[in-house]
Order: sequence, then C-alpha cells, then structure tokens
Amino acid sequence: MRYVVTGAAGFIGSHLAEALRARGDDVVSVDAFTDYYDLAEKEENARGLDVARIDLADESLELDGVDGVFHLAGQPGVRSFGDAFPLYLRRNVLVTQRVFQSAAEAGVRVVYASSSSVYGEAERYPTPENARPEPISPYGITKVACEELARAYAVSFGLDAVGLRYFTVYGPRQRPDMFFRRVCDALASEATFEVYGTGEQSRSFTEVADVVEATIAAMGGAPAGALYNVGGGEEASMLEAIALLERISGRGLEVRHVDRARGDVRRTKADVSRIRDALGWEPRVPLADGLARMWAWASARVAAR
Ligand SMILES: NC(=O)c1ccc[n+]([C@@H]2O[C@H](COP(=O)([O-])OP(=O)(O)OC[C@H]3O[C@@H](n4cnc5c(N)ncnc54)[C@H](O)[C@@H]3O)[C@@H](O)[C@H]2O)c1
Repeated sequence: MRYVVTGAAGFIGSHLAEALRARGDDVVSVDAFTDYYDLAEKEENARGLDVARIDLADESLELDGVDGVFHLAGQPGVRSFGDAFPLYLRRNVLVTQRVFQSAAEAGVRVVYASSSSVYGEAERYPTPENARPEPISPYGITKVACEELARAYAVSFGLDAVGLRYFTVYGPRQRPDMFFRRVCDALASEATFEVYGTGEQSRSFTEVADVVEATIAAMGGAPAGALYNVGGGEEASMLEAIALLERISGRGLEVRHVDRARGDVRRTKADVSRIRDALGWEPRVPLADGLARMWAWASARVAAR
C-alpha cells in the first residue's frame, strides 16, 4: 500500500513512518520542520525517511495513487494561550482543513491525530469517547475543531476520516517539552527538575509503539468516521512516574515545585473499550518497560552531547 504520513519528522510520525516501511508499505513522508523544538532532533527523527519539506498550510497534498493519509502534522503542547494561538490555528485547524479537502477530493481515507486534551477536566474517569468535550486549553479547542471539520467533510463531501484521541505519548524521540523527556534530561544531566503544581496530576501514559499499532490498525480496520481513544492502561501521577524513573536510572532527582501550567488538566484516564471491541487493540507496553526504553534512549543522547 502507498501511504502519506504528515508530521513524519516529528516524534510519533517518525515512528509511524518507520513501522509502515518495515511492513513493506510505500511511504510518502511530509513535514514542514517547524521550529517548535530543536530542528536537529527533527533531522535525526527523519533520518532514512526521505521527508519532503512541505508546509501544509500553504501547499496541498498530492494524493494520486495514494491509499490513505496518516495526518499527524500539527502544533502540539497545551501552552497555547496568548501569542502562541495563531500558530495553533494555522498548524492544527487550517492544515487539517486543507488535508481533509485534498483527501475528500481524492476519495482517500484519513486517520488523524486528535488528543485527550479535547476532554479537559473530564466529566468521568475512565473517559469514554461520548463524554462531552470541554477543553481547557486553546490547543484542545483546535483539536475539537479538527474533529468537527472531519464531521463536516464527511457529511458534505463523504470524507472517510478516522480520529484518534492520543493520551500522553512517550518513548524514544519524545518531544523535549514533554514531561518524561524533561525528567530524563534532568536525571541524565543532574539538573534540578521543575514540577508544575503539586505533581499529583496523573495521566494515561501511552507508549509510542502501542500508539503506532493502534494507528495502523485504524487505517485498515476502523469503520468510516470512527473516533477512538488511544490510551495507556496504567495511570500514574507525575510524582509516581518520577519515582519510577529514579529507580530505573539509579539516580535521584532534585525537584522544585513551580506554578501549575495553565491549560494542564488534573487527570486523564482513557476508556479504551471502543477501540478494543472494534479493532482488538489495547495497550501492551507496561509503564516500567516503556520508561526503561525511554531512559536508555534519552540518557544516551545526553551522554553523547
Ligand atoms: N505526543 C503526544 O503525547 C500527543 C498526544 C495527543 C495528540 N498528539 C498529536 O499527535 C500529533 C503528533 O504529535 P508529536 O508529539 O509527534 O508532535 P511533533 O511536534 O513531534 O510532530 C508534529 C510534526 O508536525 C510538523 N508540522 C507542524 N506544522 C506543519 C505544517 N504546517 N506542515 C507540515 N508539517 C507540520 C512539525 O514540524 C512536527 O515535526 C500532533 O497532531 C499532536 O497534536 C500528540
């Protein structure tokens, strides 16, 4: 099969493009190489993937002969208030609208990355897909807008778009702004670590290999228009996760508490019964194993500096 992967120089997109190639699929990789984090990391992620540098807010996808689009390009991170907002609008809402337009015209399925951020402080835990979206960050609002665009394009153009609400993804190549990556970097360089708020916030952490598997399964097996949570089985608080990483690394972390970040929810916990029933997917990587893999990757990077 021939697939387009957008955001292929990013954390999740690069793992997905590699996995598709490893199965023998023909992959067209696309990324704008935005400067949200160190470009050298994106170059590293993209190694061997032959990524075309295309800003999808300006240029359209060429979809002749393509069997499906994995749309992972976007502007992640909940710190999306203030002056950052126009970038979130452009890279999430505008880019997704343009990808949906091209896919609708070509009659090609899109599997796109949504987020647990759509739930905000969820009305119940574990949170099923039919819980009311009440995002508390502009980022989450742009992801709701993408889901609504998928619905509008399905109704008006017959677009076949499958949405995946990823829950805090971690693993090798995790973005440098994300929690585990910051903890690993602080442990490896013996720096003080700043915990936002009390550290009692908790997440359904999801290992990237599990996310890739769910994403590929959705392209092949999800019914048109499906929307699934893709979340890890184990919930852990930030402080529990730090303790686990301290054990794995054999090091101690000096922690300093700073103000809670605006837009950061207190808790996420995925109900994954819908995707389990439809596609037989469930998270398989235990948190301790995933963190050991992530520590090995992140500490080697710091040591090589
Ligand atoms: N990492 C997570 O925990 C998580 C959780 C929920 C949802 N998501 C979503 O999954 C997707 C991938 O996230 P990630 O963590 O790999 O982020 P990432 O920033 O590492 O990857 C996104 C990539 O998209 C590219 N991009 C941005 N704007 C573009 C544009 N206009 N044209 C082409 N490429 C563009 C960036 O250069 C980047 O390489 C995003 O849509 C994100 O919102 C991620």
